[in-house]
Amino acid sequence: MTRSPATAAPLQPSPSISDTPGTEPQTPTAIAAAVSARGVGKSYTTASKGTVRALGEVNLEIAPGEFVAIVGASGCGKSTLLRMIAGFEKTTEGVMAVGERPVTGPGRDRGVVFQDYGLFPWLSVRSNVAYGPRQQGLPKDQVTGLVDRFLSIVGLTQFADTYPHELSGGMQQRVAIARVLANNPAVLLMDEPFGALDALTRSAMQADLLNVVAEVKATVAFVTHSVEEAVFLADRVVVMSGGPSHGVPGHIQAVVPIKLPHRRDPTSVAFNDLKRTIADAVFQR
Ligand SMILES: Nc1ncnc2c1ncn2[C@@H]1O[C@H](COP(=O)(O)OP(=O)(O)OP(=O)(O)O)[C@@H](O)[C@H]1O
Ligand SMILES: [Mg+2]
Repeated sequence: MTRSPATAAPLQPSPSISDTPGTEPQTPTAIAAAVSARGVGKSYTTASKGTVRALGEVNLEIAPGEFVAIVGASGCGKSTLLRMIAGFEKTTEGVMAVGERPVTGPGRDRGVVFQDYGLFPWLSVRSNVAYGPRQQGLPKDQVTGLVDRFLSIVGLTQFADTYPHELSGGMQQRVAIARVLANNPAVLLMDEPFGALDALTRSAMQADLLNVVAEVKATVAFVTHSVEEAVFLADRVVVMSGGPSHGVPGHIQAVVPIKLPHRRDPTSVAFNDLKRTIADAVFQR
């Protein structure tokens, strides 16, 4: 475990998708981009509490193609950090950069998936996934190619013409992931994307996500409350702590590299040793 600004861990090979033989990208796949937070902080000003420093002195370098999970107690600033990478929030200290360019606002190079699926209920699955590429003004056959590709990757080809309310929560979340991927993001930002799913669906989605990420080769920052999920998915786990309710700005408490090969076994000794290390950091035991 390191307690200083993180450096990139070697990438673990992920299993590649097996049920989409011969599927080729219709547009060039975005090159995964590095994410870099240098001395980043965020203060919020509200009428009731005045100015509160929610996050401070965050230094984090995420390598291109790396999968980083972010864990920590409620209120420590995980979503704030993700929203600053997404460009939905401005930093009040330091510099956030994606692919060496300072973040000044949202951009198509970053795709965001939240816990609530955020689908357009009046659009079919196909049209939800096609939304971004259509907004970009891509030609119709290219949009169709992208939609087919990403629905295939998330295993929903047969549901292309259904509507979100006809799908289970896990399926809706797959559509949300396909919709973000159709924009060809270099960085995938996920904020508790599986938090509302039952345990079985969640576990299936975790395995699927690893396949998808291996296929599209994006950099991933993934916020979760589940230490087990973090150890299962990530190349490195960033543990955050503090937050205004603890009287200290949210900050990075520890960074734990996960060097286990993929198809990880949550019952193995090595897996549980890592879970314990991370839980100790979360609870500062
Ligand atoms: N728009 C806002 N205005 C004022 N304070 C905010 C705002 N957004 C977040 N905060 C404060 O910043 C701190 C960090 O919030 P954030 O949502 O990033 O936490 P989190 O780690 O994602 O928590 P959770 O696990 O509950 O989702 C909290 O104290 C929160 O009250
Ligand atoms: Mg949050």
